Amino acid sequence: MIYLDYAATTPISDNALHVYSEVSKTMFGNSNSLHDVGTSAKNLLEHCCAELATMINGQEKGIYFTTGGTESNVLSIQTLINSYNGTGNHLITTEMEHSSLSNYFYYLEKKEGYRVTYLSPNANGEINLSELANAITNKTILASIQHANSEIGVVQPIEQIGKLLYERGVLFHSDCVQTFGKISVDAKRYYLDSLSISSHKIYGPKGVGAIYLNPSVKCNTTDSNGLLPGTANLPGIASFITAAQDAHNNMDNEHARLLKLRKHFLNLVNNQQLKMEIIGTDGPQIPHIIGMILDNIQGDYAMLEFNRAGIAVSTGSACSLEHKQPTKAILAVGKSETDAKQFIRLSLGQRTTISDLEKVVEVCLEIINDY
Ligand SMILES: Cc1ncc(COP(=O)(O)O)c(C=O)c1O
Repeated sequence: MIYLDYAATTPISDNALHVYSEVSKTMFGNSNSLHDVGTSAKNLLEHCCAELATMINGQEKGIYFTTGGTESNVLSIQTLINSYNGTGNHLITTEMEHSSLSNYFYYLEKKEGYRVTYLSPNANGEINLSELANAITNKTILASIQHANSEIGVVQPIEQIGKLLYERGVLFHSDCVQTFGKISVDAKRYYLDSLSISSHKIYGPKGVGAIYLNPSVKCNTTDSNGLLPGTANLPGIASFITAAQDAHNNMDNEHARLLKLRKHFLNLVNNQQLKMEIIGTDGPQIPHIIGMILDNIQGDYAMLEFNRAGIAVSTGSACSLEHKQPTKAILAVGKSETDAKQFIRLSLGQRTTISDLEKVVEVCLEIINDY
């Protein structure tokens, strides 16, 4: 099978798997226990916090490990709201956040009485800075704006967004699940109050993630363990940090390789005059995500045909598929519901080769000709 769904999840790397197994066997102590076995586990946990903090240019005491990107997103927003001591009730986000955030914002709006502004991007998927500035009022508590989109791969001007929010005194959360380990994520430079990361997108184990919470945010928790009390998943965390280090050390090379693959694919599509539109090619982009709208062919049908031909692609983000929602990013960039139904996403990864992408184009041609 040619796997082209790396934005949904990745296989665990050999290094990460090895560390998972070793830590499970040899560092099995509870990091909350005071004896030596517990202390060794605690030391390893602290080492993992320090390593991750370095990778995102943050402080060690701001790192909290979670069960993944979804929990990191919800817990970040909850924590930022709880830290706020003013009388505001206004939140800002975008129309194209991952469902873990958009569902939580709907909940906050419908059940908790917050006012939420959903910013629309331009045709490339980028958020407009002056629209963001205009949306801020003296009641605004926070803004949550993703670093890169999981469906079309557009990267937001996060540094300028962060600076603007900082100058206006608005807390800033960014979902960095699709960017961490792929492009630079810099908590300080982006003026982030919180950010979320997931392990299984970068060849780490599933069920592990992290939040970075700027230590200047007053964390109104009564628990001495901070945001997430309980026994730390040390094998998962150590394995995740191993995958993160590998991704980080190889980030520039892998980025260049994926960019080359992407360009090759776009050239093939052009040369063959395939009837499809690639979304967001003009703007800043993470290279591994290629979102496209097929001309007059249902995405579900195309996905099944690709599957029959031995190629795994997706019709959107895995979480929205479960609820059969059309891909939000496609609607947000101004496409119709019909277009959204014709959307498929290729996401490239470590094992993707030029010949995989040539095969995709071949199968695309067959699907288009047979339809
Ligand atoms: C942008 C983004 N945020 C959050 C998540 C959720 O992460 P997890 O699967 O670790 O809960 C995903 C997963 O697809 C994602 O792409």
